[in-house]
Amino acid sequence: MFKIEANAPLQAHNTFGIVAKALQLVNIQSKDDICNLLANPELQPLPKFVLGGGSNLVLTGDVKPLVLKVEITGKRVVREGVKHFIVEAGAGENWHDFVTWTLAQNMPGLENLALIPGTVGASPVQNIGAYGVELQDRFDSLDYIDLTTGESKTLDAAACQFGYRDSVFKHALTDKVLITHVRFALPKVWKREISYADLDKLSKKKNELQPTASMVFDWVCQIRSAKLPDPKVDGNTGSFFKNPVVTPEQCKDIIGRDPNVAFYKLLDGNFKLAAAWLIDACGWKGRGVGNAGVHPNHALVLINKGRETGVPATGGEVMTLAKAIQTSVYERFGIRLEIEPVVL
Ligand code: EPU
Repeated sequence: MFKIEANAPLQAHNTFGIVAKALQLVNIQSKDDICNLLANPELQPLPKFVLGGGSNLVLTGDVKPLVLKVEITGKRVVREGVKHFIVEAGAGENWHDFVTWTLAQNMPGLENLALIPGTVGASPVQNIGAYGVELQDRFDSLDYIDLTTGESKTLDAAACQFGYRDSVFKHALTDKVLITHVRFALPKVWKREISYADLDKLSKKKNELQPTASMVFDWVCQIRSAKLPDPKVDGNTGSFFKNPVVTPEQCKDIIGRDPNVAFYKLLDGNFKLAAAWLIDACGWKGRGVGNAGVHPNHALVLINKGRETGVPATGGEVMTLAKAIQTSVYERFGIRLEIEPVVL
């Protein structure tokens, strides 16, 4: 049975480490918990906010909607199909632990997504992706509870409307559902994906051109740890902005402004620009606003400088910094950077 906690501290529940509280918070450990909560006539109509690992979240004040902290656990192999193993995890499982578990079951396919902070339930919301693989490439289906009707529903990949760091959960279904379980289709015939520049470089450096899945897992962990700050040490939400997608004409214009710009051609003919490069070129690396700063090793990551200064960053400082970065990138390159985490 669920229990409502009043004025629950949220600092440990958001990886940026921002100090804020939830006016009301409930831990959801099962489908029954959420169904019972929704059957309560006082709680059912309240606005709600679903919280996973808080790894993609900026809190700009105390949270007034009822916070549903998802703690549904469990990992299992659902079935063996012709081409795939179907594996399932509860939404509250830690993402990296789940990836590690699939490899221990001898079911590779998620190794490129190692060490991404957050929970399994949050992974489809922003269609997490790294080092050449996106969640949608390994996704099977998910179950959710409709927070208005209490109904249980299942969505396949098409219904999730995945895009780059995007899904239906960032649009039509925002704040309307609680994802309870996610299923993944892991290929029975595994194919390594090491074409991403960092992995390709490491493979050549190690003279290991046909790495196993467990080697790719180790390499991804090594690359991420070297480049990206550990949120347990310096609070952050990973990439703070999306990499902008521009037309060939826009790309040409930007190359005209600075020929060194980092970009990649997409299959549809458009170009993806490295937001980190744009921010770096505007001289933001290592700078900041109050106790919020730009990571000295990776310009796309904003960090909480609280460990250094003794005072944790506020959500206001983080957003002031983000807006200043957006303005300078727009003034120099004519590109509007889109913020990636949810701002509450
Ligand atoms: N770069 C700079 N300055 C920097 C850092 C990078 O100029 O400070 C340039 C370099 O030219 C580099 C390029 O930016 O080659 C791209 O950098 P990186 O390979 O680190 O990838 P990214 O585009 O910045 C994306 C994802 C990451 C993911 C990596 C690896 C987004 C918003 N971010 O970052 O995802 O780990 O690729 O696949 O798409 C996250 O979403 O939180 C995240 C960390």
